[in-house]
Amino acid sequence: MSKKSFIVLLLFLVMGLSGGLVALHPESPGSPAAHAAAAAAPPAPETPASTWTAPDQVAALERAKETVPFVDAVMDECKLCRQMRLRETGLGTKDIKHSYFVLNSPIINAVEDHYGPVRFMHSKHAAQIQDCAMCHHFRPLGADASETTRCSACHQEAFRKDHPERIGLKAAYHQQCMECHRDMNQGPVDCIGCHNKNVPEHKDKIQLAANPTPFEVTEECLRCHKAAGQDMLKTAHWLLKGPSPFTLGHRKEVEIGKATIATNNF
Ligand code: HEC
Ligand code: HEC
Ligand code: HEC
Ligand code: HEC
Ligand code: HEC
Repeated sequence: MSKKSFIVLLLFLVMGLSGGLVALHPESPGSPAAHAAAAAAPPAPETPASTWTAPDQVAALERAKETVPFVDAVMDECKLCRQMRLRETGLGTKDIKHSYFVLNSPIINAVEDHYGPVRFMHSKHAAQIQDCAMCHHFRPLGADASETTRCSACHQEAFRKDHPERIGLKAAYHQQCMECHRDMNQGPVDCIGCHNKNVPEHKDKIQLAANPTPFEVTEECLRCHKAAGQDMLKTAHWLLKGPSPFTLGHRKEVEIGKATIATNNF
């Protein structure tokens, strides 16, 4: 295999991986790899199986787009008092309307949108934590207000002049989600544990003639991903000169590496 076609193969592998991870993103039902492949070959007819989406996912995506009216007045209550009172109301997992959320607030995205939406298993969290007040820590003032009003009703833009005590929605999520994960030593605290990178739709980015050679595909990717091409040149895949070390207990020896085979050079 030539070096260039090897890069192509590697990139496609990477794309396959990230494509699987970003499958949640509402605008990208297919992976970028699928589109790159579609550009190279005539598109295959869509099967019903590939377009099916779970109903709770559709509803969750719709919910993520909503902007909830801002709640001005909040019931003044100590944390413990609220916890006790919620318990007395008998509020529990049976009152959960949505088992699953996709957190992708338009309020946050208007300021920054470097990442794809965050999946939040609501019912699973509630069942494990057994205390709605751990997260739903305040309620709006008013007799008919919901005890479990969405975070995005009280936390919106950061640094609101009229409500300096309210942290912004992104900070509210980050602080509450990560603090608990850290305290309980469960759940992700690293960025990619919750986030996928927001990979843009590649369908209209890639310009290739029909039936391109692997070299042409690599060339096209490198047009925008020069740094990724440079990084590749520093990997063991590229630099392997051979002979490679033995694998213990196996008779495995490679005498020549990729970097020493003439056909692998540009
Ligand atoms: C426990 C889960 C969790 C972890 C860990 C986490 N975040 Fe977030 N992050 C969220 C949620 C939830 C949002 C709100 C998403 C929305 O509504 O758009 C968010 C929003 C964001 C946003 C703004 C929205 C966007 O798409 O760009 C940025 C930037 C961000 N996070 C960066 C980070 C970075 C950097 C780290 C690692 C230091 C990190 N996050 C770790 C849950 C998490
Ligand atoms: C780990 C944190 C956490 C726990 C525990 C939790 N929730 Fe939630 N809940 C959330 C988040 C986050 C949202 C979505 C908020 C948003 O979109 O702004 C939410 C949303 C809701 C909503 C939808 C509100 C609306 O107006 O649409 C209801 C209802 C709800 N939760 C009920 C409950 C009940 C009842 C419990 C306890 C059995 C509970 N939750 C436990 C974090 C939690
Ligand atoms: C009814 C309004 C309201 C709702 C709903 C609400 N908050 Fe808050 N939140 C507040 C107020 C008010 C403060 C300021 C607290 C203070 O002054 O001590 C606050 C503060 C916070 C803080 C700062 C640390 C702290 O505990 O004081 C975090 C984190 C936070 N909220 C996260 C969330 C998350 C996540 C949700 C949704 C699960 C949520 N909030 C829902 C009103 C609300
Ligand atoms: C009060 C504690 C607590 C809060 C608050 C909390 N989590 Fe978690 N989270 C957990 C625990 C415990 C687990 C481990 C669950 C398991 O592995 O069964 C977890 C697991 C996760 C996972 C791993 C996958 C999964 O669903 O099991 C994700 C993603 C996650 N949380 C996202 C979030 C986000 C986003 C928020 C904020 C909106 C949040 N969590 C708030 C306790 C919390
Ligand atoms: C017209 C410009 C353009 C072309 C051509 C292009 N991309 Fe991209 N690609 C982007 C942009 C912009 C991003 C998002 C920013 C980033 O992560 O660098 C991206 C992101 C990616 C990512 C995610 C990177 C990560 O760190 O998660 C992969 C994988 C990727 N592209 C693969 C490819 C492959 C393979 C090709 C060739 C078939 C290609 N791209 C061609 C512009 C392009």
